[in-house]
Amino acid sequence: MMSAQENELITRVGPGRPCGALMRRYWQPVALKVELDAPRPVKAVRLLGQDLVLFRNEEGRYGLLDRHCPHRGADLAFGRREDGGLRCSFHGWLFDVTGRCLETPAEPVNSPLCRNIRQPAYPVAEKAGILWAYLGPGGLAAAPAFPAFDCFLAPDTHTFAFKGLWECNWLQALEVGIDPAHASYLHRFFEDEDRAKSYGKQFRDASLDSDIPMTRVMREHGRPTIKVEPTGYGLKIVTTRDLGNGATHMRVTNQIFPHAISIPLSQEMTLMQWHAPVDDLNCYWYTVFTSFGKPVDKAAMRAQRLQVYELPEYRSRKNRSNHYGFDPHEQQHKTYTGMGEDINVHDQWAVESLGPIQDRTKEHLGSSDKAISAYRRLLKRSIAQVNKGETPVLAVGPEEATRLTGPPTIDGIATNVALATYAADTDRRRREGATWASQGASQGAS
Ligand code: FES
Ligand SMILES: [Fe+2]
Repeated sequence: MMSAQENELITRVGPGRPCGALMRRYWQPVALKVELDAPRPVKAVRLLGQDLVLFRNEEGRYGLLDRHCPHRGADLAFGRREDGGLRCSFHGWLFDVTGRCLETPAEPVNSPLCRNIRQPAYPVAEKAGILWAYLGPGGLAAAPAFPAFDCFLAPDTHTFAFKGLWECNWLQALEVGIDPAHASYLHRFFEDEDRAKSYGKQFRDASLDSDIPMTRVMREHGRPTIKVEPTGYGLKIVTTRDLGNGATHMRVTNQIFPHAISIPLSQEMTLMQWHAPVDDLNCYWYTVFTSFGKPVDKAAMRAQRLQVYELPEYRSRKNRSNHYGFDPHEQQHKTYTGMGEDINVHDQWAVESLGPIQDRTKEHLGSSDKAISAYRRLLKRSIAQVNKGETPVLAVGPEEATRLTGPPTIDGIATNVALATYAADTDRRRREGATWASQGASQGAS
């Protein structure tokens, strides 16, 4: 049983908190790239409990600054984007993307004031359709390298990024993604959809090497066997469901430290999803979908998701205030939750219904929660490492980053005879079929 103190330790990520120090050792998603593709690319953002302003200057460089002006505290998110930086609308102080103060126009000519002014600024990187921020100590020189994961190697044509707001602590958001049992219940569909209509949707394709819909496997086999292995990037989770007649359904998913997961979406696509803390009570999921086959139909994927998520906050139209669209008739006849077919809405209900920060002193974990237990042990160990000045898992330099590839995600059906090598064989097959992935793998191996 967890103590209240321990629950605080592993959930709170604001400045000065031990888990906040851990989170600040990694690049964090701060916005989708498309959010800054606007006539005025300036956006107020909140990340790890810090209020910031993200902008792109006229030369195309990204800046991320503390939001309140160091003069008398006005909100820089309303500033003027001009003269190579962001100018405060109150008295015209101008800041560049590194936080240097370039002008204090109300001061006497030749005033030295701005030489001593530096607004806290953080490095920004663009990868896979997402803008990433490093809020840790040491600036860019101390930031970890991006691993050679599929989503970072694939060309822009083969990836699609989206996000959504969940109003709860980041840890419970992550924990639903490393819980392989819930898919048999929370995401249960009483009927399988036509595969032709499954594009871009999770759990709606057939499992690989079969024509059995994933939904049927999940529905009919609700007692999986789960194995968790530590890796160089976090945890690998192998879930099997014995189908009888000498066949086994295998699902390989991953926890990517500190707060991402990677799971198979369909036969063609995999996804990686980060749960970036806005503060202790809210988080954004950021997902990159990566195709090993055809280029991703970004317009279709975005349109599907915009039916549920409302801009500019990417807030779900189905939420606590309207009971997530709960329909008792649907719950009786169509879906386990009665909350429609978008599995993100199911997950959102599940994690938000635990409360703003789940009270883990009252929970009772079972053996189907073993990945969650393993993750919490890893999280506590990593918090302690950072506390002692050590380097936690995946906060790696450029050389080690090239060796961190994949990671493989599998959803397929194997004969029991072939089960031991099924994951490796399937991953190899998929990579060989995708030109960019085989190139990526050989780069990673060199
Ligand atoms: S408060 Fe920003 S310039 Fe005065
Ligand atoms: Fe889920």
